[in-house]
Amino acid sequence: MSKMKPPTKGILFLAALMVPFVLGASAVHVGVRNGLGSGRNMTLHCRSKDTDLGSHVVSDGDEFGWNFNPNIWGTTLFYCLLDQGSVQGYAFDAYSYTRDYVRCESKCLWLVAGEGIYGMNDQTGLWEYVYPWPASST
Ligand SMILES: *[C@@H]1O[C@H](CO)[C@@H](O)[C@H](O)[C@H]1NC(C)=O
Repeated sequence: MSKMKPPTKGILFLAALMVPFVLGASAVHVGVRNGLGSGRNMTLHCRSKDTDLGSHVVSDGDEFGWNFNPNIWGTTLFYCLLDQGSVQGYAFDAYSYTRDYVRCESKCLWLVAGEGIYGMNDQTGLWEYVYPWPASST
């Protein structure tokens, strides 16, 4: 019987380090800005399957943001719950790899406004009206 050689740990380690570069999954910044005006606060609680970013009061004009590396399986999803005025517990996807890997290659900015949430398309440089508030809350 021939003995199997143990795997070369150093090589495997290097290969693992390089995977994100090969697949192009570099760091992404997500920012959610309070553009409600009139000094109105909003409360934002964002999380992914593995990370809970906590609940934060974001005052008028301020931004809550974070950085992360999308996972290599293309399943990264951060969603947020938002409270502001009559809109309570509104859930939206702040970063979904399948929707955003082109749209927000490195930067995903959101603007919370009186009528809903706008998302910056980083490819076109244009704000898109992505999430209107539910009709019942306006
Ligand atoms: C907004 O939040 C800050 C800090 O939590 C608080 O001091 C302030 O009273 C709030 N403003 C309004 C309009 O609720």
